[in-house]
Amino acid sequence: MSQRIAVIGAGTIGASWAAIFLARGHDVAASDPSPSGEAFARRFIDNAWPALEALGLVVPGASPTRFSFHATPAGACEGASFVQESGPEREDLKIEVFAAIDAACPADVVIASSSSGLLISRVTVKCKHPERCVIGHPFNPPHLIPLVEVVGGDKTSPEAITKAMEFYRALGKHPIHIRKEVRGHVANRLQAALWREAVSLVADGVVSVADADAAIAYGPGLRWALMGPHLTFHLAGGEGGMPHFMSHLGPAVQTWMDDLGAPRLTAPVQKAIIDGVAEEANGRTIPELQKWRDRKLIEILKVSNSA
Ligand SMILES: NC(=O)c1ccc[n+]([C@@H]2O[C@H](COP(=O)([O-])OP(=O)(O)OC[C@H]3O[C@@H](n4cnc5c(N)ncnc54)[C@H](O)[C@@H]3O)[C@@H](O)[C@H]2O)c1
Repeated sequence: MSQRIAVIGAGTIGASWAAIFLARGHDVAASDPSPSGEAFARRFIDNAWPALEALGLVVPGASPTRFSFHATPAGACEGASFVQESGPEREDLKIEVFAAIDAACPADVVIASSSSGLLISRVTVKCKHPERCVIGHPFNPPHLIPLVEVVGGDKTSPEAITKAMEFYRALGKHPIHIRKEVRGHVANRLQAALWREAVSLVADGVVSVADADAAIAYGPGLRWALMGPHLTFHLAGGEGGMPHFMSHLGPAVQTWMDDLGAPRLTAPVQKAIIDGVAEEANGRTIPELQKWRDRKLIEILKVSNSA
């Protein structure tokens, strides 16, 4: 069913959300204080549209022309049935933005924050209706990546969680419910765990930045596009599955776990990673890499979304 969705903050993430909301046949009302905010969002949506069409995500009647831009969050929120906030990742700023959205929307409207790591219990301290507020954390770029992490705070109602999960599911997303507030939610913690070890191996001179990346992209990363680490190891156990994996390889994995590094992102370590990535990029600019990534992602998504 077509709804009006408010997008508050229309940068990298907000504009991408706007693109998928529009593709699924919704009206989108956006607001962003940047003087270039409207032009950026409109350009982003136009650029994203062919990929959304290629993935079959554009429903009949959907159009980028159903995007409107408003001077204030209150203007964008008028008549909206769902709000996706994607302003800067600063708790003090999000507290004010949430207070303004909360004041502008009837109490049954769910307000979701894209925040990568803030706690919704903190972000909503100035809201009159914190019970309808959730984290709805997407992955870059949200118009392509299916995962959305839904997290409630200490005052969030079960109804708000259910509504948010249903809303994202109807968009064609794959929402997961995170049952406790933890810093960085779940997927970013998993990414941080892996990156921590990659940084540690580079800092210890075990491997180059490019080869650490290759160790994922040409190896486990291919399987991880289809299944997570648990199901991957269930299959690594052969016909005995996870029970066999635990008894056969569990003790070895425990010794690897016990040996993992705990690096600090000191100035020399940062420099090693920055220089290593520049070498790996081999002259390819960030827009070039983004285009390449999105083109490949579409092909991966076509496979991983099918049975
Ligand atoms: N970039 C990522 O990979 C990523 C992934 C998932 C979630 N997020 C989260 O999404 C949110 C936005 O991140 P981003 O990468 O799009 O940042 P961004 O800097 O690209 O966009 C933020 C936008 O917010 C606008 N803004 C500034 N003050 C504002 C205000 N008071 N009210 C409303 N908008 C305001 C800015 O003009 C800008 O357009 C953050 O909470 C971030 O943690 C980012």
